[in-house]
Amino acid sequence: MGGIHGLLSRRAGHHSRAAPQHVVDLGAGTARLLVNILREFPGSTAVALEIDAPSCEEARRAAERAGVGDRLTVMVRSVQSVATDPSPVADADVIHAGFVFHDMMPDEEDLADGVLRQCRDALNPGGLLAITDAAPYVTNERERRFSAAVTYFHKEFMGRRLLTDEEWQAKLTAAGFSSVETVPLRFPTGRLHIARKI
Ligand SMILES: C[S@@+](CC[C@H](N)C(=O)[O-])C[C@H]1O[C@@H](n2cnc3c(N)ncnc32)[C@H](O)[C@@H]1O
Repeated sequence: MGGIHGLLSRRAGHHSRAAPQHVVDLGAGTARLLVNILREFPGSTAVALEIDAPSCEEARRAAERAGVGDRLTVMVRSVQSVATDPSPVADADVIHAGFVFHDMMPDEEDLADGVLRQCRDALNPGGLLAITDAAPYVTNERERRFSAAVTYFHKEFMGRRLLTDEEWQAKLTAAGFSSVETVPLRFPTGRLHIARKI
């Protein structure tokens, strides 16, 4: 198990008090990540924020099937809306956003920065924001072919700019986070940027 779920599992394995209490996923899709987290941590609650209404319906059904429907709140909303109404991220100790922030780059970068600041302010002390996203034009042998294709596709056909590890670290630091760590994922180009609030 990799990514943010793996990180939370390992952390809770080391310190039982580190189990997440309230997790928010921005651009949650059908909430597969949150359903798995809720199953592993029976004391936790979660919010799935997702702009696509049919995905939200499927998220609710998946949560019911898994027996965690009473602990998952699904909101049909845009990530951008968090810049002006941070209520979906209130009281979180973990906020995740997977492969959704790059959709705001470059046209809505200021809005994205506003969302990051709201996340930082809303997190409980000791909380973390985890951004999973694709890194552009990675040069190492394992990732370079796939990274070149993904970067080109996003730029030429979608008008999107993927951020480098350094750009994410600068952006998250500017949003007020005290430390930022970047972890490469097994998925080529995949990066997990973990920003902590003291
Ligand atoms: C590439 S998928 C990633 C899904 C999931 N986060 C994951 O990592 O597997 C992006 C998801 O974000 C949603 N999305 C795209 N733009 C969004 C926005 N502005 N606000 C909220 N959700 C958005 C899409 O509908 C889709 O479910």
